[in-house]
Amino acid sequence: MDALSAPVSRETSDAYDGLGDDEGSPLANELIATERLRRELAESDFPRPAATRVFAVSNQKGGVGKTTTTVNIAAALAKRGANVLVIDSDPQGNASTALGVDHRSGTPSIYDVLLDDTPMAKVAQRCPDIPTLWCIPATIDLAGADIEMVSVVRREFRLHDALHELLEGPGKQLDYVFIDCPPSLGLLTLNAMVVAQEILIPIQCEYYALEGLTQLIKTVEMVRKHLNRDLDVSTIVLTMFDGRTNLAREVASEVRAHFPQQTLEQTIPRSVRVSEAPSHGQTVITHDPHSSGAVAYTAVAREIAVRGAATAA
Ligand SMILES: Nc1ncnc2c1ncn2[C@@H]1O[C@H](COP(=O)(O)OP(=O)(O)OP(=O)(O)O)[C@@H](O)[C@H]1O
Ligand SMILES: [Mg+2]
Repeated sequence: MDALSAPVSRETSDAYDGLGDDEGSPLANELIATERLRRELAESDFPRPAATRVFAVSNQKGGVGKTTTTVNIAAALAKRGANVLVIDSDPQGNASTALGVDHRSGTPSIYDVLLDDTPMAKVAQRCPDIPTLWCIPATIDLAGADIEMVSVVRREFRLHDALHELLEGPGKQLDYVFIDCPPSLGLLTLNAMVVAQEILIPIQCEYYALEGLTQLIKTVEMVRKHLNRDLDVSTIVLTMFDGRTNLAREVASEVRAHFPQQTLEQTIPRSVRVSEAPSHGQTVITHDPHSSGAVAYTAVAREIAVRGAATAA
């Protein structure tokens, strides 16, 4: 029998360096649970969608884990063979950094797509670590786009038109598109909401977590009414979750009470591995695939894949 699916015993925990004398400690149990889940995920199916699923990853609150969630779910799905495109739609360019693609000022980027009609296929770069993962980078040039776009024709549909051109041509095989939005509800976010079918909201389990959501949900309702009837807040991911604190547990249960269908079972733990991965130009999925953060993001990716297959059925 697989040692890791057996109940925790001294022998089992002895298998982990430095944990032998601490049978049943929270850390040892956590490591064992992570490894058990990793093995289960390695053997499970990640069904591919029948048609391309386009997600806008949005929350106008800063630093809640939008970019981290975007790149890690994308990498986890691509690792399992899906064709995935990440569109970095934030002038900070953090998703481009984490995916290891060039995004120095002047690099062909999402700015050229939105303001100069450059086809997406011309600016997409393949990520160095995962062959089925692509990224359309954002450079600092995007910083003025929210204002520059105001006077452009079909300003809310720039991303929509460009993505549809890609999906009907060279991007036909894409299974998933994830758009990493900036922490605001300006034109860049609006463009993402107009082309997406699904909104993925990362929520950090802290005191003000739900306050900003009212504004976000109002914006989604407005977009649904006037610009994109198909838009659905399909997925909520609880990020940087620390189950040892009462506050995190309370916020999580409040989010689940408000959004029972949307909130994924799997939460993302706070983890140093997750936060250090971008400094290596990597996601945690490639940086440390055995870490708790990589395993949690892979489990989230599976939930998203399985839910998509269930909805389509
Ligand atoms: N699970 C995690 N464990 C530890 N650190 C994390 C985790 N998730 C995110 N972080 C860190 O928290 C910070 C904010 O995360 P991230 O950049 O993904 O948020 P964001 O919502 O995209 O921010 P912004 O609103 O600025 O775009 C980053 O420094 C990131 O490395
Ligand atoms: Mg970000």
